[in-house]
Amino acid sequence: MKEALKESQIYELIDTAIEQLNYSYTPYSNFKVGAALLAKNGTVYTGCNIENAAYTPTNCAERTAFFKAVSEGVKTFDAICVVGGLNGELVEYAPPCGVCRQVMMEFCDSEEFQIILATGKDDYTVYKLKDILPLGFGPGNLN
Ligand code: THU
Repeated sequence: MKEALKESQIYELIDTAIEQLNYSYTPYSNFKVGAALLAKNGTVYTGCNIENAAYTPTNCAERTAFFKAVSEGVKTFDAICVVGGLNGELVEYAPPCGVCRQVMMEFCDSEEFQIILATGKDDYTVYKLKDILPLGFGPGNLN
């Protein structure tokens, strides 16, 4: 994406990410995360975190959204909105974990892919992947 996201698109992604908190499965941490991933074709893929009694199989909201998209053949993306907080209360930003940043690195242009962190429509910040994952290792490094 060369041009910046429109504010209306950002608002839609924030609303959609917040909606996903309803589906977050977090019996162990109670930390609920929702994501809304905008593909280049305009489709928004949703995600929530899904925990597990064995702990390590837990899947983050961001990766849920990416894997849903990729499993449907969609592999190019413009932006993701991520929201989260203990008991689903949005008091501060919920930045993507290192594993999720690495998954973004696999499918996204780090100079263009945008990560929207928000606590609501009145409080959000847009980051580039390269800012939150500097010197990232991606598919291009294997050439
Ligand atoms: N979590 C996410 O969903 N995304 C992140 O990037 C950070 C962490 C989830 C995993 C776990 O269910 C809970 O937040 C607490 O770590």
